[in-house]
Amino acid sequence: MTPTTPDATAWWRHAVIYEVYPWSFVDGDGDGVGDLAGAITRLDDLAGLGADAVWFTPWFPSPWVDGGYDVSDYENVDPRLGTLDDLDRLVREAHQRGLRVVMDMVANHTSDQHPWFQAALSAPPGSPERSRYFFRDGRGPDGSEPPNNWICGFGGSAWRRTTDPDGSPGQWYLHTFSPEQPDLNWGEPSVAEGVLGAVDFWFRRGIDGVRVDAAPAMWKVDGLPDATYDPEEGFNSRSWVDSPHWDADGIHGILRAWRHLADSFTPPRMIVVESVVSSPDRLAAYLRPDEAHTAFNFDFLYAGWDADRLRSAIAEAIPAHASVGATPTWALGSHDETRVVTRLGRGDTQAGNLAFDHVEPGSLDRERGSRRARAAALIQLGLPGMACIYQGDELGLPEVMDLPPEALATDPVYTRTGGAARGRAGCRVPLPWAGQQPPYGFSPNDAQPWLPQPADWGGYAVAAQRGDDGSFLEFYRRALALRRRLGTGDLADFGWVTTDGPVLAFDSGRLRVVANLGIGIELLDPDATVLIASGELPGGGLPPDTTVWLSR
Ligand code: GLC
Repeated sequence: MTPTTPDATAWWRHAVIYEVYPWSFVDGDGDGVGDLAGAITRLDDLAGLGADAVWFTPWFPSPWVDGGYDVSDYENVDPRLGTLDDLDRLVREAHQRGLRVVMDMVANHTSDQHPWFQAALSAPPGSPERSRYFFRDGRGPDGSEPPNNWICGFGGSAWRRTTDPDGSPGQWYLHTFSPEQPDLNWGEPSVAEGVLGAVDFWFRRGIDGVRVDAAPAMWKVDGLPDATYDPEEGFNSRSWVDSPHWDADGIHGILRAWRHLADSFTPPRMIVVESVVSSPDRLAAYLRPDEAHTAFNFDFLYAGWDADRLRSAIAEAIPAHASVGATPTWALGSHDETRVVTRLGRGDTQAGNLAFDHVEPGSLDRERGSRRARAAALIQLGLPGMACIYQGDELGLPEVMDLPPEALATDPVYTRTGGAARGRAGCRVPLPWAGQQPPYGFSPNDAQPWLPQPADWGGYAVAAQRGDDGSFLEFYRRALALRRRLGTGDLADFGWVTTDGPVLAFDSGRLRVVANLGIGIELLDPDATVLIASGELPGGGLPPDTTVWLSR
């Protein structure tokens, strides 16, 4: 049964969505890798936390070169995660608890093991099989230089040369991410047909919504001209304007086809895009009424602990979204980002930047990071729109900074940069559920988790935090319950209380949110009713690194 509310078609406008990285959530079968059967056993926890929906990162069969974002079959489940029957049971059981299920669709690229790519490799240049991807001859007299200067999101050139069946060097193919993730050519009708057929397949199984992975990469300008950026500077899609392979206008036609499909279901399915683009207006273009419903807001995520930057991220997002009738999705973390407790516990809180986080552990103050992460959560959860919580952020988990090289090497960012960037393994360490030593209840036995858990995580475990009013988990639960009861209103109800200085204060629905990002204690209106505070309020004042919700 799909859950219904009086406003069922717009559930995403106010939902709290919990991101599950299934490999690291719960291991049901004791092989040290999380799976769907395990996840089902913890749906009660997610409903009890106050989530409305769960987003699962990819569950498809995958050689797992990029954490499952390299898909070799769009219509199945990776055997390590379970079966299609497990998936159906997951959806059923989630719905029984009022939780919607959002899947991740990786449609900019496939795995190099996908039958389409394998067929393309064995077919000649110019063949229909090759036209599903971007195969091109190289430049230079012997074709030994890449076809253009585009760079790869994980470091290096975006092109790899193939070898012909007779062993001689062949054409090159485009990969915006790892070489094992060749880009699909969405200009080729059979690509759209195949991928949208798969999305339809999942929607028919009852999936409530889809996250479109790396959406701005999905269209390339005809002729694949050189980019004007300096390839030495690395991948920086947030500053690219007029890039021939990022945020090119053709993406909007693709999204319209996805939306058409989503709208053909009853109730309509939801589309959330991952679009890291150069401005709120560029982002809003993805959210026009016939495109996606919402998008993760990366300006907010990257703002760090800085009142001005947070203020402008919010102040620019709200009118841009309102102009197209969409709502934002606010997030503090994901499977791609340094954990929020760690980012905000550093001297330079803006240093955290995707997987390319070069900052070493030295400057970390974990206590300060925890305080700020709670304060940031009340800013995030107090904003109108959808809020996304990455698994473990509700436990206050820090980034694991001392993973051994073989664990870091599970991320191509680490390997492709020769270890210069730590990559994302540190935020993907399996969750601690109970007990004082690894695997902390992650596996039903003493199986070694696929990424090693730190020895001091016992206090972060769900069982250790449950029932402890001072814990991160109970704090999140209280905040989510209040949010659900009082609501954060619509974009039109949003208003600023302060417009500069270190105090960020705004009204949102029935809440007044006041956050102190400065260094002194701020006075609070003595008549105001405090609904929740992220920390102590000594003498009724609001200390640094603390947020309160007041009732209006
Ligand atoms: C998105 C995913 C990330 C993945 C990349 C390539 O950014 O969130 O994990 O590596 O796309 O698919």
